[in-house]
Amino acid sequence: MERVYNFSAGPGNLPLEVLEKAQKDLVNYESKGLSVMEMSHRSALYEDIQNEAKETLLDLLGVDDSYDLLFLGGGATTQFSAVPLNLMQGTGKADYLVTGSWAKKAFQEAQKYGDARLLASSEDKNFTYIPAFSKEDVRKDADYLHMCVNNTIYGTRIIPSKIPDLDLPMVADMSSNILSEYYDLSKFSLVYAGAQKNLGPAGVTLVLVKKDLLGKAHEKTPQIMDYKVHADKDSRFNTPPCFNIYMVGLVAKWLKSLGGVEEMEKINKEKARLLYDTIDSSKVFKNPVKEEDRSLTNVIFLTENPDMDKAFIDEAGKNGLISLKGHRSVGGIRASIYNAMPLEGVKKLTDFMKEFDLAHK
Ligand SMILES: Cc1ncc(COP(=O)(O)O)c(C=O)c1O
Repeated sequence: MERVYNFSAGPGNLPLEVLEKAQKDLVNYESKGLSVMEMSHRSALYEDIQNEAKETLLDLLGVDDSYDLLFLGGGATTQFSAVPLNLMQGTGKADYLVTGSWAKKAFQEAQKYGDARLLASSEDKNFTYIPAFSKEDVRKDADYLHMCVNNTIYGTRIIPSKIPDLDLPMVADMSSNILSEYYDLSKFSLVYAGAQKNLGPAGVTLVLVKKDLLGKAHEKTPQIMDYKVHADKDSRFNTPPCFNIYMVGLVAKWLKSLGGVEEMEKINKEKARLLYDTIDSSKVFKNPVKEEDRSLTNVIFLTENPDMDKAFIDEAGKNGLISLKGHRSVGGIRASIYNAMPLEGVKKLTDFMKEFDLAHK
């Protein structure tokens, strides 16, 4: 069966090589007589798999050993609570940049635990831009500043040069753009990302955390949300999502073999350029996002007419270009072009868009 080009925002597509390797190893991992899914998480065999995944990821993320990397369950959403429970325990204040629905959810969750304050929001224009703020606007005594670097639903991102340098811990949700382009992660004290977009299958969340922030959680923090508990047990405090971690490790190795983030960034920029150029020169499609804030990984576009959007999505599906429907809260069309989407897939999509454009203008 021929594979389709899958533009889903998440779970997203995975590199074919990774799927084939997993398939080869599925019932008999490296001739050990069992599948990764059946291994004890305490076995030496599994421990090697997890350690290798961790080392490869830390290398790709480009951070020094003042950071730990945790593999956790519960999705990125769990981090909306875990972050304040673990980090909002100094002055009990935290500032939040609200650039989309996920960032807003994180902000609302933090309000349960302390003095979470809105630093800036772009909700006035339906999150189509990244709001400006200056360092002076951030409370100096805040325990941290939280931001969502890429807004999956609205197709905006905070470009690397706009990530500020602050004297307080910065926390980033990078679920939909981790390892897609170079960010200086040493500016952040904590980065989290659900795996299901750019890293692997759903079910594991990466938390990159500065070690000096561990051990400060609120006393009522459930053990399962306490970063120190997980760090002390090397992400095996309880049974981790072993198979998912193995898959994330395979994706990380694949990325490394292609030349790492630097090389991937070139490909991703070319994919995004192709799509945005096609939209900008089209008569029927438009992109609502402020140009400098456009996402590299989630490209949003729409026509003037929801029926025409639907016709486009349906016809594209018949041509092997699937999951192009915009998020249910905003409608329109969204092409998620994570690392595993090859340039050929984007070329096929832009060719199809051009044909549709000619037929409908
Ligand atoms: C930026 C961002 N943050 C958080 C989430 C929530 O992730 P999860 O479903 O893993 O809880 C998503 C999901 O799409 C997302 O795009």
